[in-house]
Amino acid sequence: VNSSLTKKIGKRILSEANDLKRTISALSVDIEIDEDHLQKVIDGNCSLEDSYEILRKMGAVYPIDISELYIQDSDRTNSVKIMTALESLKSSRVYDRININGKKTPYYEYRDTAMSNIGPYKPEWIKELRVVSDSDPENPDVVYNNGHFLHQTTFFVGPVNFYWEVNGKKFCREMNTGDSNYITPFWPHSFTSRDSSKEAYILAVTFGGEVRRAQKELYALGEKSNKYYLDYRNKNKATKKLIEQLLIDENLTLKNLNDLAARKGIKDFDIEKLLQSPSKISFSDLKIISNLLNVNPEDLIVPNYQPEDEVVVKHSIDREKYFFPNRNDASYRIDTLARTAKMPLMKSFNIDVLLNSSEKYFDSSLHTYAYNYGAEDLDVFWFSGGKRFSKKLKKDDSIYIEPFTKHGFTCKSNNGQLYLVRVSGAMNLLTQKELSYFSSIERTFKETKTWFD
Ligand SMILES: [Fe+2]
Repeated sequence: VNSSLTKKIGKRILSEANDLKRTISALSVDIEIDEDHLQKVIDGNCSLEDSYEILRKMGAVYPIDISELYIQDSDRTNSVKIMTALESLKSSRVYDRININGKKTPYYEYRDTAMSNIGPYKPEWIKELRVVSDSDPENPDVVYNNGHFLHQTTFFVGPVNFYWEVNGKKFCREMNTGDSNYITPFWPHSFTSRDSSKEAYILAVTFGGEVRRAQKELYALGEKSNKYYLDYRNKNKATKKLIEQLLIDENLTLKNLNDLAARKGIKDFDIEKLLQSPSKISFSDLKIISNLLNVNPEDLIVPNYQPEDEVVVKHSIDREKYFFPNRNDASYRIDTLARTAKMPLMKSFNIDVLLNSSEKYFDSSLHTYAYNYGAEDLDVFWFSGGKRFSKKLKKDDSIYIEPFTKHGFTCKSNNGQLYLVRVSGAMNLLTQKELSYFSSIERTFKETKTWFD
């Protein structure tokens, strides 16, 4: 019996019972379970089957989504999960695509790398098996995919061509070791090798953000989900649509809003004129509108659309690398990889692990993934539960590391090579701010009390 898991689920049941305004006694009556037994389940002194049975019964009685009550068992050991090169190799799949002669021939070899059920990403090692002799985005030997739901940031090793298509226009860029990209969901893309005699692969880190977490609701709402779309690529239209949405949410017509403004003594305010005018709404008007709609001015601000953010391509430049923690006592030489303000917590790095007699570590609020793509063995060390751990991270081994786990890497030579990506999980900047309003943090992840005594 995994008692730590049954204890977590027990606390989560108590939290849900609180939400439903049910005492343990009232819950036991509703779901027809003996109260003493229910108390044991809430205390976690039961089998996992007992816990699941309570969840099932709650789902049958109350209008709740019980999948939200299933706490995942940890698949990490002391906060990390390592996948060795051999384990990756065993997951190998080769997929064929049509070639220039209309025949299906091998296009990619995929291998899984370290992933955890708590981490928001699914990083793959992908070897380019289609070899091209030019960098023409229209090369008929290049087969684009249909694009995909997850965001993607990619690290390149060897002579790899990167192709992408935005609004029907195709592009190609020659990439080399240390280069990187970011691909917005659903834009088609492809990768090929420029040289069959050289190692050429990518580390494709696909990951879900807030939309991924809303996916269940979007599927449930179906076609209605279309209505959430803001024309992000036309800032003025998007802002106006957002204002109209907040108006209907407040049960206000345009006329109602003008009347409200007049009652508050705001002179010469006309929302109809503002929304109909082709020009953009000024920040001072946005401040007035946000105040009338009980939101913050920044809630009405749609970020500036940057066409170059659809697909970001970053070539590595040596002089842009920096030493960590400082040049004189450096353990790492770091290259900042592709970034986009759209995904502010996507942080990827190419890290040279240097020889240093003292250990230097990183810490992060984000989920961390790292892959040893160099020829040298590395050691990874980390701290969990007040203890220090370390493991070999050999060539093509990869690791997932939980947030707030101090970690670092050492190399016996001076040229360890590491690709490292951090992304946020459910706890993004918005969620973090909401959480911080709460008068208790502890009770958000381990409810111990009924809401009244
Ligand atoms: Fe992809």
